Amino acid sequence: MPTSPQSPHLPFGDNVHSPWYGKDVLSVKNLDRKDLEYIFGVAHEMHGMVDRVGSFDLLKGKILANLFYEPSTRTSSSFHAAMERLGGSVIPINNVKYSSVSKGESLADTIRTLECYADVIVLRHPEVGSAAIAAEAAEKPVLNAGDGVGEHPTQALLDLFTIFSELDIGEIDGKTITMLGDLKYGRTVHSLARLLTLYDVKLNYVSPDILKMPQEVMDEVAAKGIPQAEYSSLEEVLPETDVLYVTRVQKERFKNPGDYEKVAGSFVINTEIMKAAKEQMIVMHPLPRVNEISPDFDKDPRAAYFRQMEYGLYVRMALLAMVLGKA
Ligand code: CP
Repeated sequence: MPTSPQSPHLPFGDNVHSPWYGKDVLSVKNLDRKDLEYIFGVAHEMHGMVDRVGSFDLLKGKILANLFYEPSTRTSSSFHAAMERLGGSVIPINNVKYSSVSKGESLADTIRTLECYADVIVLRHPEVGSAAIAAEAAEKPVLNAGDGVGEHPTQALLDLFTIFSELDIGEIDGKTITMLGDLKYGRTVHSLARLLTLYDVKLNYVSPDILKMPQEVMDEVAAKGIPQAEYSSLEEVLPETDVLYVTRVQKERFKNPGDYEKVAGSFVINTEIMKAAKEQMIVMHPLPRVNEISPDFDKDPRAAYFRQMEYGLYVRMALLAMVLGKA
């Protein structure tokens, strides 16, 4: 008769007293500046380790379930790479049509299934609130990799880490951040705007009229006393901008394709337009881009969007190590 282990749920060698151990990362709403300093400190260490040794065994024996109900290149592959660089393994589910979801299995049941096999779950899902539903169903940590038009907290963290890494450390206070494009459906800007309220910044929103920043986000920003203003043209604010955060107009979020056609291509960043910007500033984009940043700008040192993807690896390594009690 097989003997059962005495404490099947007790982690072995994990720092269960770490404040991040076993935590979900669903939103940026509850984070404070100390949390960010800690995450970025660990991410900085991860960067150094990857540069020095490539991969190491911090999470050896741990398994990540990488569950994506929506397409992804960066988030999915950077979490996958993060786990492998930390010596762990991954169950990749990038196309739920080949999983039991296609037989009608609920999100909660899928999560309960995966946590039987994995130590941590990363979830991207088209519905707002799905990550919270998953976290409710799971005992293991759930990291929100984008829930519809809701939040994308790990993207906002890597965005802020990029800003700190690219601008002078500690100098985000006093900076002007301009968000451009689809601010209505762009979950990355919802999370980033919330996170930036922890700093003394000025926020500009430039978008077509039908893609303005949601009132709910603007109310939260206003409640924190952060100055913010809406514009329909970039020219007005580009010269004062320290960080230009460009977003794609997301065709897949429009119910009426005619509405998409009306606003697609409203703003295109290129070398000519960027002559009006500061020499010391950066242009970011969560990517993928369609045509909102012309490839002719890619070689400009201010184009930070490819470096931004790499910073994401280190932030995601940090988060995985932290919620698994190894940082
Ligand atoms: N930035 C981002 O979320 O990209 P993916 O959709 O490729 O994951």
